[in-house]
Amino acid sequence: MNKNNNHIIAPSLLAADFANLKNELKLCNDSKAEWLHLDIMDQQFVPNLSFGPAVVKSIRPHSNLFFDVHLMVSNPFDMLPAFINAGADAISFHIETTEPRFTFPPKIIINTIKKNNLRCGIAIKPSTPFKVIEKYLSFIDYIVIMSVEPGFGGQSFIPSTLEKISSIDKILKDKKIRDKIAIQIDGGIKLHNAKDVIDAGADILVVGSEVFKSENPIETINEMYNL
Ligand code: DX5
Ligand code: ZN
Repeated sequence: MNKNNNHIIAPSLLAADFANLKNELKLCNDSKAEWLHLDIMDQQFVPNLSFGPAVVKSIRPHSNLFFDVHLMVSNPFDMLPAFINAGADAISFHIETTEPRFTFPPKIIINTIKKNNLRCGIAIKPSTPFKVIEKYLSFIDYIVIMSVEPGFGGQSFIPSTLEKISSIDKILKDKKIRDKIAIQIDGGIKLHNAKDVIDAGADILVVGSEVFKSENPIETINEMYNL
């Protein structure tokens, strides 16, 4: 998933100053960050409403970062065309929106994302066991392990998630597909716990408030690369 086989920092725009988005985006561009994490919330799947495809489309021309759209929406399939057209490079959706209700079978969502040459991720909430997504592993590029309950930035990291990362890391290794699937950790990642999640096996660290609420976001991002 990245050049030097180290971890990737993905600043989460949800924590940015929305009245100053272009400048906040420039900070990410000017840092070592490689991904930009875009949290899409519909106030159905999660009790919050964030931003939509129009925002993604408007910032697209202003950044070469890898746009990672995290769909926290009750019907991810319906949202795909708008985010694909907005310029997303990757889209992750929550397996909890497709099973057991199966609004749209996960395979249809995955195929639509892949057919448009985007990377595809499946996200699981803290309480959702990994085995729910095991049957889709051969079709996806990354797993989003939520280390907070999805819906808001600025929450505290759920410590039991460390064990979840390392157990998934081990299962992927045992299945000999560890190099094909990246592990993304999302929620409550700070300078003080980033090394723990990296050591547990995380490849992509989503970081919202620690970056955008810090004195110097560029420095904070770059520090996270030097861990
Ligand atoms: C939460 C989002 C996260 C969040 C991360 O539902 O998926 O990406 O914005 O923000 P922090 O790093 O502040 O927890
Ligand atoms: Zn997210």
